[in-house]
Formats: sequence, structure tokens, C-alpha cells
Amino acid sequence: MTTIYSKRLIEVDLPIKRISAHARREKSIRHGHISTLHIWWARRPLAACRAVTCAALWPDPVDELCPQEFRDRATALIMTFAKKAAYNSKICSDESYSRWQGLVKGRIELDADNPKHWNVLRYSLLDFIADFANWDNSTQEDYLETSRALTQVAHEALGGEPGTRPLVVDPFAGGGSIPLEALRVGADAFASDLNPVATLLNKVVLEYIPKYGKHLANGVRKWGQWVKEEAEKELATFYPNDSDGSKPVAYLWARTITCEGPGCGAEIPLMRSLWLSRKSKRSIALQIKVVSQTKNRI
Ligand SMILES: C[S@@+](CC[C@H](N)C(=O)[O-])C[C@H]1O[C@@H](n2cnc3c(N)ncnc32)[C@H](O)[C@@H]1O
Repeated sequence: MTTIYSKRLIEVDLPIKRISAHARREKSIRHGHISTLHIWWARRPLAACRAVTCAALWPDPVDELCPQEFRDRATALIMTFAKKAAYNSKICSDESYSRWQGLVKGRIELDADNPKHWNVLRYSLLDFIADFANWDNSTQEDYLETSRALTQVAHEALGGEPGTRPLVVDPFAGGGSIPLEALRVGADAFASDLNPVATLLNKVVLEYIPKYGKHLANGVRKWGQWVKEEAEKELATFYPNDSDGSKPVAYLWARTITCEGPGCGAEIPLMRSLWLSRKSKRSIALQIKVVSQTKNRI
């Protein structure tokens, strides 16, 4: 039996420069991003995962083995999206805006039955992917609707049973970027990891937050406060208030040596650096002071 395999978009092209720019910008996002939930080493940028997932799920229209059904339905979806983007430049980049305008105004022709136009569909899909990688568009309704419809159309045209969804499997899911993006673009996701912390992270991100939403957030807040209060009570004897009433939150531990200077004998902490924080807007350092000449303590 020979298997007919239609190349996916990711096998022919990907707007890497544009996707990377969005991935770099994503690092400064402080609201609604999974990295604010828990820091996981080596977590991949959501921008790149979203782009790669779409490009791996959608076939390349130029490939001669691409099902015509995909070309027809994807053309209709891209034209519907173009009509929205052509009148709302805020949701797309300058590069894509001229394409959407061209398609809507007829300057660029797109006929799914004409092989000479398949290239136009390929680069329209890649433009869509490049702009969808933008964090600002990750929850924008037109991108979500269009990407989910394209995923469904691709799945069915490639032989998936109508009504079912494609399954994205990530056995090394880590912080969960790939399964999260798979769900966003309309696929089902299976995530696993050897590390139980990663497994819990994936459960929270992929199952508990969608299922329990605000209720979960309120529970975490309530029980977090409880843990804080209980810990404060239990650890109070180790963190007595300072003489001025301020509350210590941490102690720095260091070996000490005695200064051998004539008549000195001060106890000096051996620390590599006195800096506690070195940030452009907020630098804090310890200052060593002699607090009592008689006892020679610093
Ligand atoms: C580079 S991280 C994955 C990062 C992930 N794509 C993300 O965006 O957060 C690789 C993951 O593979 C997991 N891993 C390593 N060896 C494994 C194994 N044999 N089976 C399952 N998971 C494994 C590690 O625990 C780690 O979480």
C-alpha cells in the first residue's frame, strides 16, 4: 500500500524572522502568560510554538498532493479573514496589510482552481501565521476563529473523520507551550513529561484553568494566604523583629574571619560581593559598618 503524503507548510517555508521578533518581544509580557504562573527552564516561546503548530498541521497548497478540498476551503477562509484585516490594520503587520488589501481589492488574484494561484494561498497562510505569532493577536477573535477553522479543514481534507480534531502529542511537554498552543489553534493535545513538576504544570495549564477558571484562582489565593500565615507563625522564633520594629524576611549566612590589624580584631564576613540586586533602576548593596568599637564587631 502506498501512502499519499501531502507536504505541510513547515516543510516548505516559515517566516522565521518575523516569528522570532514576536518571540523576543514575548519575554517582556507580564500579563496572562503561562510564565507568570510558574517559571520552567527551557520553556519555548508561545509565539514559536503557535507558528510551528499551525505550519505542521496545515498542508502546503502548492504541493501537488495537497487535497483540492483544502485549497478550496482554505481560500474561502483566507478571503473572509482578508476582508476583516483589510479594514483593521491594527490586527496585522504592514507586510501582511498590503496583501490583505490586495486580495480584497482584486489586485492579487486567488482562485483555488488555478495552479498559478496556489503560491498566493501558500504565502497568505504564512503571512497569517507570522502575524498570529504576535502576542497581541493570540486572543484576537478573528485569528482564533480562522486558525481553528483552517485546522479543522486541514484535518478533514487529510482524511480525519469529520467532527473529530487532530491530536498533537508532546511526550516532553515541560512547561506546556506546545500543547497549550495546539489547543489554541483547534487541535486536541496529549502532554506528558518524566518530571512530576512539569506534569503538574501541564495539568494546571491545560485542564484545571480551563475547567475551574476564577474559582481555581480564588482557591489558590485563599490557601496561599493560609500557608503564608501558618509559616509566619511557625517560623516567628527564627525571625524576631529588629529593634526598630522592622521584620526580617531573610538572613545571609557567611563564614567570618577576625581582622588581624593592630588593635582591631573585628569579625569580618567573607562574602564574594555585597550587592543584593544590580538592576538599572534598583540597585541595593550591603554596607559594612563598625557598630561597636569596644566589642570590635561590624
Ligand atoms: C526542553 S524541555 C521541554 C520544554 C517544553 N517544550 C516547553 O516549552 O516548556 C524537555 C523536557 O523533557 C523532559 N524529559 C527528559 N527526558 C524525558 C523522558 N525520557 N521522558 C519524558 N520526558 C522527558 C524533561 O523533564 C523536560 O521537561
